[in-house]
Amino acid sequence: MTELEHVSVEKDDGTAIVAIDRQDRLNALNYKVLQELEAVFTGLAQDENLRGVILIGRGSKAFVAGADIEELADLNKQSWRSQSAEGQRIFTLIENFHTPVLAAVNGYALGGGCELALACHLRVASSNAKFGFPEVGLGIIPGFGGTVRLSRVIGFGRAIEMVLTGDMITAGRAEQFGLISAVFEPDELLSRSKDFLGSITRHSPQAIQKAIQSLYFAQDSRALESFMMENDLFGQLLGTEEMKEGVSAFLEKRKPVFKGV
Ligand code: COA
Repeated sequence: MTELEHVSVEKDDGTAIVAIDRQDRLNALNYKVLQELEAVFTGLAQDENLRGVILIGRGSKAFVAGADIEELADLNKQSWRSQSAEGQRIFTLIENFHTPVLAAVNGYALGGGCELALACHLRVASSNAKFGFPEVGLGIIPGFGGTVRLSRVIGFGRAIEMVLTGDMITAGRAEQFGLISAVFEPDELLSRSKDFLGSITRHSPQAIQKAIQSLYFAQDSRALESFMMENDLFGQLLGTEEMKEGVSAFLEKRKPVFKGV
């Protein structure tokens, strides 16, 4: 079992707060942090009462300031290939998570930190956040899925600009790009993130899960296959207790009460 040193989980009324805490390295992702993230999300996947996850970086300076550059310096071609594949696999585990995962970005989200935020379903940030892909300045490129996910979220033009310039952008600019959904004051980031996630998790958990599945499937598939997938997922929801509750509540002019997945 992976011993947790840098990643912690707190549960609060159906929401898990997953925190990366390696503040002396601005929460940079070394191999151990990646393994801990995998262990935490694998554990959370067993929690039937979980409705959503908020991912944060501890401290006031950084969400995650990238992959650990000291560790990078020791990698050779072979070990980098497997480190990159590991990062891609673990971030994809987060992308495939069964409840919504929200990155609440405080401070720097650079390189692997920005890639981690992109692997979450949604992102919000504090007004002091900075996003960027400094890799080209280090003689490398993003290696944890960033060149794939960034274009999906902000479009190819902005993605190629961010990756090739390596420049950091502010939270305000990131919101304009569509990289994040909202900007909050730093001392309100967690409470406003909970409210934001709550505006999603108040809905039918099964519907949210299937909506995420359908939206992501459509990213990688042709339209015809995507319509078929949407149709199939829609069909899976018909007649469920949650659909009955949602429809009855509307007809009875009351708020629905969803019990969970
Ligand atoms: N990997 C390893 N260590 C890192 C790190 C990273 N990605 N980012 C920051 N650190 C370490 C610094 O080396 C420093 O360690 P030290 O106290 O032993 O000198 C400590 O974290 C604090 O960072 P520092 O650079 O002193 O803070 P700053 O406020 O002056 O600058 C940044 C902040 C984010 C601009 C700067 O740390 C930086 O450029 N980091 C690298 C970002 C990057 O290139 N990420 C992509 C990696 S692929």
